[in-house]
Amino acid sequence: MKATAFFRRPLVTALFALLTSNLFAADANPPCERRLLDFGWKFHLGNEWGFAYGLDKAGTGSGPASKSFSDASWRTVNLPHDWAVELPFDQSADAGHGFKPVGPGFARNDVAWYRRTFELPKEDAGKRLWLEFDGVFRDCEVFVNGWFVGHHESGYSSFRYDITDVANPGGKNVAAVKVDASQFEGWFYEGAGIYRHVWLVKTAPLAIASDGIFVYSTFKNNVPEGKADIHVQTRLLNSQTNAAQATVKCEIIGPDGKIADAKHQPTHLEAQSQAKVEETMRVAAPALWSPENPKLYKLVTTVESDGKVVDRKETEFGIRTVAFDKDKGFLLNGKPYELKGTCNHQDHAGVGAALPDALQYFRIAKLKEMGDNAWRTSHNPPTPELLDACDRLGMLVMDENRLLGSDEENLRRWEGQIQRDRNHPSVAIWSIANEEFRVQGTPTGKQVAQTMQNLVKQLDPTRPVTYAAPVGNNFSGINSIIEVRGWNYHIGTNNMDTYHAAHPTQPNVGTEQASTVSTRGIYGNDKIRGYVSAYDANAPEWANRAEAWWSFFAVRPWLSGGFVWTGFDYRGEPTPYAWPCINSHFGVMDTCGFPKDNFYYYQSWWTDKPVLHLMPHWNWPGKEGEEIEVRALSNCEEVELFLNGQSLGRKTMERNSHLTWMVKYAPGVLSAKGYNGGKVIAETKIETTGEPAAVQLRPDRSVINADGEDLSVFAVSVTDAQGRRVLVATNLVHFELSGPGKMIGVGNGDPSSHEPDVFLPQPVTRTVPLNDGWRWKKLPGIYNPKLAEFKTNFDDSNWETANPQSDSGPLGEREQAVFRVKFQVTESNLAAQAVELRCGRIDEDGWVYVNDKQVGEAHDWQVPAVFHLKPFLHPGENTIAVAVANWGGPGGLNKGVTLEFQEKSVAPAWQRSVFNGLAQIIVQSTKEPGEIKLTASAEGLSPASVSVRSQTCTSRPAVP
Ligand code: GAL
Repeated sequence: MKATAFFRRPLVTALFALLTSNLFAADANPPCERRLLDFGWKFHLGNEWGFAYGLDKAGTGSGPASKSFSDASWRTVNLPHDWAVELPFDQSADAGHGFKPVGPGFARNDVAWYRRTFELPKEDAGKRLWLEFDGVFRDCEVFVNGWFVGHHESGYSSFRYDITDVANPGGKNVAAVKVDASQFEGWFYEGAGIYRHVWLVKTAPLAIASDGIFVYSTFKNNVPEGKADIHVQTRLLNSQTNAAQATVKCEIIGPDGKIADAKHQPTHLEAQSQAKVEETMRVAAPALWSPENPKLYKLVTTVESDGKVVDRKETEFGIRTVAFDKDKGFLLNGKPYELKGTCNHQDHAGVGAALPDALQYFRIAKLKEMGDNAWRTSHNPPTPELLDACDRLGMLVMDENRLLGSDEENLRRWEGQIQRDRNHPSVAIWSIANEEFRVQGTPTGKQVAQTMQNLVKQLDPTRPVTYAAPVGNNFSGINSIIEVRGWNYHIGTNNMDTYHAAHPTQPNVGTEQASTVSTRGIYGNDKIRGYVSAYDANAPEWANRAEAWWSFFAVRPWLSGGFVWTGFDYRGEPTPYAWPCINSHFGVMDTCGFPKDNFYYYQSWWTDKPVLHLMPHWNWPGKEGEEIEVRALSNCEEVELFLNGQSLGRKTMERNSHLTWMVKYAPGVLSAKGYNGGKVIAETKIETTGEPAAVQLRPDRSVINADGEDLSVFAVSVTDAQGRRVLVATNLVHFELSGPGKMIGVGNGDPSSHEPDVFLPQPVTRTVPLNDGWRWKKLPGIYNPKLAEFKTNFDDSNWETANPQSDSGPLGEREQAVFRVKFQVTESNLAAQAVELRCGRIDEDGWVYVNDKQVGEAHDWQVPAVFHLKPFLHPGENTIAVAVANWGGPGGLNKGVTLEFQEKSVAPAWQRSVFNGLAQIIVQSTKEPGEIKLTASAEGLSPASVSVRSQTCTSRPAVP
């Protein structure tokens, strides 16, 4: 364990520094930039605006898509963000998705809006500008400055839009994203919202295309001996209307920082076209990438045109070979290498699907501590930052697609996934899909799979393809054409050995195994509370105990090893029980990453370090004299157990197994010694503890970066007066934080806990009707911004009285008018965080003025129009003037007008119970350096206060 903690800290810091390097730092107007667009989004759950965008005329809409819409009263959120995790649990919601009231049947929580206002410098004129999304769940429409720029349905694939035409260099820009999570894509917790990063990308008109670099290495006979050939493909995009010459320069930098090879090549690009430039480079004596030694190279690609550098990109890659062999299983760098993997969903305690990058590193480090060397991205394309973390920390990846399909859209996504991910040395194999029960055995399913596999072969000559098949000895359909046979469950001689004998040329891998169910710290099944014993005793009928599957695989090298379902518990699929359980029990760790006992089973047989772990806990008041099953999970040759110093016998460990003693319970100390060659090489003990006496806090990192992204994961525990962890404690712990940090999520790994994971500031909105005192007058001609009728001091005393609460009218077809009102505002009104004007309907086009200044426009007569008023108001009398142009039917200012005062929100108090002695709280930095102090207190216990230092750092470039 210590070793892992040791390597992780410096590495993570160094890697973030790498991530943040700005390639053109010294250049005031760099030709290309990639800036994070995560901070300061406005968020609103709900959609009071119907269709976001009129289809009759371009640029229509008054809702959040339009540029002048006010989002001042909306909550500010930073990405990644998951609104599903913020919702309360609801027994009527879908169990598979963790009983969160979103998705089918929960229209009120299904659609949300995100808006982000940003400035673009005038120097951006002439560049190509893009918005890139790593992933949005799901079905989103993106608007920029009131223009529709794209619609993306999949909740898992990345996408980008060219916003050059509609962007406003030298001024204000607004990106608005409508997200609709009403349909599921999976049967597990999927989150909702912009739960991955967003980027603003600027390029020159001639530049490297998106995912336009492919770099891979080959060796003679696919065995890394001697030199490596490095194949580099660069796709360039010329969006100019003239042809151009360009030179592509490639430089390979080794892990030692030295240039390993450099080449350049000129090319010609036709107007508005793409060109591919291919180079073969060479690294003489490469440092090979592996999970144990994740050595990374860097390809620096520079593009010059007209004597200027127009683009420059750094691509990390690794030099290594992978293969799946029919007899020897998986080969890494030419040698058999057993896959000791886990399948994982993108879900963590506290934050749901919205995992900050640092949490990816935290989770991978936990898995590596267990001896895990491979991660299956079940059952969807991962976020690219997970793959960066796998490359850097050393974790092989099975990169999985979501849905089987060879239709145009699916193939486009599959192609995008491969092009995006194929430079990652961690990615060892592609998986086209998981458990497509309905079609997998059919001739059609086979054809579709073949097309998907063929596409991989075109795009990536180095990696094989698998399919996660939930069948046994069955060669029909997809299994008959897939390169590597994937096994979901179905262990056993009749299935696997018989299949292998009948199809001896097809390699095999355990795509999904185990599904062992257990609850951390629980030692008997409890149907009522929804807990399952942690004794490696339970698995659904299709699945297996940890020891059963691993001991079968471990002795069959041709199986390549496999992937446990799952590394971490995740929300949803609360097997074998339902409500009150809200998350799965399949994890080797709970949702926080706290190990269950099975963790030590895998650690024993997946690592070379001495492991000795005893279970259960030793607090069993009332069971004195009763027999309790004590297990030692260990890889020592022999283990001796002691109770209160008395030996209970020394036993010999069978490989891939565990040892058991039936022990008559007496409080005290249960201890064990592990022997190799007769010598003690490991010792451990569990003690009967006293009552809970103190709260303890332990951050996983005590120094983090002040970049608004980095974080420290605090383990919260309860100890007795002697400082021993009370493994049965359930105390409610309250948290307080001071300094430049924020709490972003809490959890405790209890699969039946309905406590909130986040505590949101409670908005306080005061609504004041503004329906009295309106006057109106018809105007000849069409609207013009210079009308005297907008002026504050215009005399409207002889105008007619207007009723803005009416349903329609008073304007007829092709009529126009100005509506005016005067109202009083006090100093204290203006202390509100935001003041908004909400017009029920402006029918049809409207232009709103406050105190002589234009506030905004409205161009959708079917939805309310909302305007940000505060900057335009002053204490005393204020005047609103609304010009309305009505084209067809009756029109006017209707359905009521209100002023909404957004008062300072009430800061929430954070809390969480410990579950079997443990809880977790995730603390994230702001962009200010300083000391972040977390205090945890519980009634009757002594509190704990621990600080982490948030240090000044070079943040990665972000949109201000
Ligand atoms: C598998 C499936 C997983 C998960 C698991 C639970 O069949 O692929 O997504 O549902 O069962 O055991």
